[in-house]
Order: sequence, then C-alpha cells, then structure tokens
Amino acid sequence: MAQATQADPPLADAIVLFGATGDLSRRMLLPSLYFLDADGHLPKGFKVLATARAQLSRDDFVGQVETILKARPEGLDAAVWARFAARLDYVACDATTAEGAAALCPYLEGRKRPMFFLAISPSLYAKVCAALAAAGLATEASRIVLEKPIGRDLETSRQVNEAVGAVFHEDRIFRIDHYLGKETVQNLIALRFANTLFEPLWNNLTIDHVQITVAETEGVGERWPYYDEYGALRDMLQNHMLQLLCFVAMEPPADMDPRSVRNEKVKVLRSLRRFTRADVQNASIRGQYARGVAGGKEAAGYEAERGQPTGTETFVALRADIDNWRWAGVPFFLRTGKRLPERRTQIVIQFKPVPHSIFGDAASADLTANRLVIDLQPDEDIALTLMNKSPGISKGGMRLQSLPLSLSLLRAYEGPGQRRRIAYERLLLDVMQGNSTLFVRRDEVEEAWRWIDGVADAWAEAGMVPKPYAAGSWGPSGAFALIERSERAWLD
Ligand code: BG6
Repeated sequence: MAQATQADPPLADAIVLFGATGDLSRRMLLPSLYFLDADGHLPKGFKVLATARAQLSRDDFVGQVETILKARPEGLDAAVWARFAARLDYVACDATTAEGAAALCPYLEGRKRPMFFLAISPSLYAKVCAALAAAGLATEASRIVLEKPIGRDLETSRQVNEAVGAVFHEDRIFRIDHYLGKETVQNLIALRFANTLFEPLWNNLTIDHVQITVAETEGVGERWPYYDEYGALRDMLQNHMLQLLCFVAMEPPADMDPRSVRNEKVKVLRSLRRFTRADVQNASIRGQYARGVAGGKEAAGYEAERGQPTGTETFVALRADIDNWRWAGVPFFLRTGKRLPERRTQIVIQFKPVPHSIFGDAASADLTANRLVIDLQPDEDIALTLMNKSPGISKGGMRLQSLPLSLSLLRAYEGPGQRRRIAYERLLLDVMQGNSTLFVRRDEVEEAWRWIDGVADAWAEAGMVPKPYAAGSWGPSGAFALIERSERAWLD
C-alpha cells in the first residue's frame, strides 16, 4: 500500500534525529529504525545520526540504544544489532543555532539526501529549520519530518507552517500523525476500497450514524505541562480522530497518490459543519477526570496530578455533521478521554433498521439493525452483525438473533516472524522513500484547526467548563445525554 504512482524519488541516505535522547526517540524512533534494519529496509550505507544537547560520547549513546533495545520484548538479534550499531553516530549540539547545525556537517559528508526528524518541542521547529538552512543542510533533496502539535490553533499552525515552508518545499515536509502508521488505520482504506461490498451502502441512505471512540486508561501524569495547554480537543480530536473520520467519510480517491488521497481528506474537513454557541451545549461535552478507580487501583484526579485547579478537558464527546451529499443527516459521534475504563479505539458504522418487518411481533422485537464494528486497538477485529434465525422451534413462530460475522486480523495473520509493528516503522520507511500519502498536508492541518477553533470558540462563548467524571468511568453523564438526545446510544 501507499505506493507512489509517479517515478519514485531516490531513497534517503541518512536520518538526523533531533531530540535523540528524548522519550519519542527512545520508545518509538530508535526501535523502529532497528526493526527496519532487521527487515532489510535500510539501504547499505544508510546513516543514523543522533543529536541532542546532552554531552554524550558516541559509545555512551550506542550503549544507551543497546539497553533500550534489549529491554524490549522482541529481544536483540546480535547480527542485526552489529549492523545497526555501525550506522549510529551521535553529536551533542544546540541545533537551534547555525553553529550548532554546522556541527552536523562533517558527520553528513557524502550524504546527499538526509531526512531530518524533529523529535523536539514544536516551539523550536522554526529555529532548527532556519539553522539547517544557514548551515547549508536544507538541500533540494533533503526531507523534514515534524511531529504534532503543529501549532495550538489555526493562527499558530500557520506560523509554524510558514517558518518551515520558508526552508523546505511542501513536497519535502512530512507531518506525522502516528495513527496513519497503524496497520489497522491503513486497513480502513483496504476495507472500503478493495471490497465491492460496502461502498454502495456507505452513505446516508443506508447508514444511520457513525461512532468513533478513542478511549485510554492512562491518565495524563507527568505530561501535564504539555497537556494542560492542549487538552483532549487539541491533543486527540484535532489530529488522530479527525484523521479517522476522514478515512471513514472520504470519497474514493483516484489512486493512492499522495495528492489524490489528501485532496479527498481535505474535502471532508471542509464539509464539517461549524459549531455555534447555540448548538455547542447540545452537541458537545467536556470532561475532566476526578479521583476514582482505574485498573483496580485508586487513581488521582487530573487536578491533583496537575497540582492546581485547571480548566483543561481530559475528555470530549461531540456530534460532528458532515454537510455533503453522501453524509447529510448522518451524525458522527466522536469521543475520547483519559482514565476511561478500557483502552479501545473503535469505529462503529451503524446501519439503518429494515424498512418493514415481515416477522411477527415477537421476532420483530428481536430485530436489530446491522452494524459494522472496526476495532483498531488493542484488538484488531472487524465484525459485521447480521440477523439470523435462532435455531429450534417456538410457538410464536420464528425468533431472530443478531450474530457477528467476525474477522480477527491478528489471528488471520499470525505466524512465525509476525509481530505487531510500531506505527513509526511504516512512516519512517515512507519518508525514506519520499512517499507522503500517509502524512498530513499543510491545508489539511489548517482545515482541521479551523474546525477545532470553532469548537473551542463556541465553548468559550457558551462558558462551557469541563464536567468532572470519576477516573475509571465512561466520562461525564452529559456524554450519554449527548447521544441519547438523538435516540442513539454508545456501543459499550
Ligand atoms: C498522542 C497523544 O498523540 O497519542 C497522547 O499526545 C495519546 O495523549 C496518544 O495518549 C495515543 O496514542 P496511541 O497510539 O497509544 O493510541
């Protein structure tokens, strides 16, 4: 999947990892690079140049990477490690200055197509890009990879995009949304466009509503200095959840070319109905976890973790409407939160009931509408519920029962050598190959912010503050009222 249709750009020949001693690099990026090497995806001579401010020697850094990889459940393969370790190098520098960036140059000698991965605070993106330009490293063949958040609203995202765009052409900017690297999210494209079954039904004639849930059991914990400025709306909805919504709602793209896919996603974002002060109270709810029990253990409330009262939401549920021909009248209910009872990322496509029941009263009462449930994590399952005749005979005539036709992707693909990949493996490989289909284009980020700003503004105008919910519960009661108002219910 995600193959470029035009002539493939040449492979990158080095990655420069900024923030190489940070959490993202340790947990995701360095292990992903190691696994890419293990699977034979790193070209011969490909260099991994790590950089951070910490004064470490190359040997210290390589030792740290070895410790990280050894601690992983997959274990370390001696031959792969020897090959990977030989690619690693480390430079301590302040990459926000031209001198700092220049310190990287000798290490990149002979490398013509480096990819720069900014695993650092977004507030430094502009400075690092300018420094790379000043050091002569931002060449025509180089690529830059940015993590979210790209700004905190439309205005600030534009500033970041301008600053990065002043140095790198849009075709060479790869904005990561790590959800797009997940197998199951990419599988949504396959499910919709590699089967004839669903597409004719995928519209407001047959679908009643859609639910998208991203539930986490973890609290915010030590991440509050970042999180408190963003909250669930900006941390999860603006990016991951809107991306899921786009994949569910977009029109079939002409092909898998980055331009075709991203054009379709932008159209969906542009069709999202803006929130107004009048409807925001009925159509959305903010929550914040209070003390409770999570995973069988006492859990502190967010304000206790934060150390002081705060108006930041750790839960959002809202009803999104897409004003276009396909989706007019089909609500999309989105909800996400921290400290919920289980970890679950799930999309539910709820079909309409049959127009008329030919069965008797008893069996008609059994009738439930078909539903397609796509579990993205932790389980990777797809289930289509179908009505069946219950076996046996009964006095009142036939009885009916809803049963799932279900496919476990893990089981279907289990076997030796199969492991759950880190989402970043796919994404790093795509950057290396110069394929941006699974990355977020500038207009896409900005359209998403435009809509999110509308929600935040409407909240502010309506004076909506987060409602407390006990840690370990499914959010404030208003989240249930929100969906029940339109005579539907969350699938819990
Ligand atoms: C990140 C958010 O982007 O995604 C986190 O900043 C969140 O707050 C995380 O926990 C969820 O990702 P995943 O892959 O664990 O579902």
